[in-house]
Amino acid sequence: MSEMSRQKFDGYANHYDQWFMENDNLFTSELLLFKKALGDITGKKLLSVGCGSGLFESYIDNSNIDGIEPSRDMGAIAEKRGLKILKYGLIEDVDLPEQAYDIIYFNGSSSYMEDLKPVMEKSLRALKDGGKLIFIDVPKESAFGFMYMLGTCAQSYDTKFLDGVMPACPYPLALAASGVWHSTEEKIGLLKELGIEKFEFYQTLIKNPMYTNEEPEEVSDGYKSGGYVAIVAHK
Ligand SMILES: C[S@@+](CC[C@H](N)C(=O)[O-])C[C@H]1O[C@@H](n2cnc3c(N)ncnc32)[C@H](O)[C@@H]1O
Repeated sequence: MSEMSRQKFDGYANHYDQWFMENDNLFTSELLLFKKALGDITGKKLLSVGCGSGLFESYIDNSNIDGIEPSRDMGAIAEKRGLKILKYGLIEDVDLPEQAYDIIYFNGSSSYMEDLKPVMEKSLRALKDGGKLIFIDVPKESAFGFMYMLGTCAQSYDTKFLDGVMPACPYPLALAASGVWHSTEEKIGLLKELGIEKFEFYQTLIKNPMYTNEEPEEVSDGYKSGGYVAIVAHK
């Protein structure tokens, strides 16, 4: 992530949580996916890369979760919520201990990273054998991905191309525009190149974006329809 987008998250810490509160059903759907991907975390050591404000972690036992976060504003809230910030910085710049974690996950953060392969490699080294490396994110190929990229191209959601099809309270365009959207196939391909053979895939936000906050959605298997997708890679 560039220095510029780090500043953007700095300015958006409270706004970010507020956005989820205004999109409460969407948040519930994403939280269900988050919990499903993590599975049973009892007795496990976790690392949340780009933990942000630790919002999702505040709904689970976060006593064994370390965080890495470049934004001081976001990280300060996460610390208040009980996460231990291992390091304030970009994952690209952080040295991780080897074979230290049972689960390392990126919830919504890999969309702000240009080059995922070295980040995956580093995370796999820090993972214990049998551990899980998890990427949960908006796929580039999803309706949400298209909406964010179209808004970015038009420099506004207020364009005739999106007229009448936007959610009531869309994700701030400044944050969407600083994303580096990756497809699910791209992430799977990179993980395979790094030797991962065993995967699980889960998805939510199957409805089109303008309807996703109407009610919470159940998590389903697979990755080809959702606006929020979890890739669980087994080391
Ligand atoms: C969309 S937010 C997700 C925050 C949190 N995980 C959540 O789900 O609420 C993306 C987060 O990733 C962080 N981030 C962006 N680039 C990063 C990088 N290169 N290394 C670590 N964190 C990064 C941002 O500062 C931001 O807090």
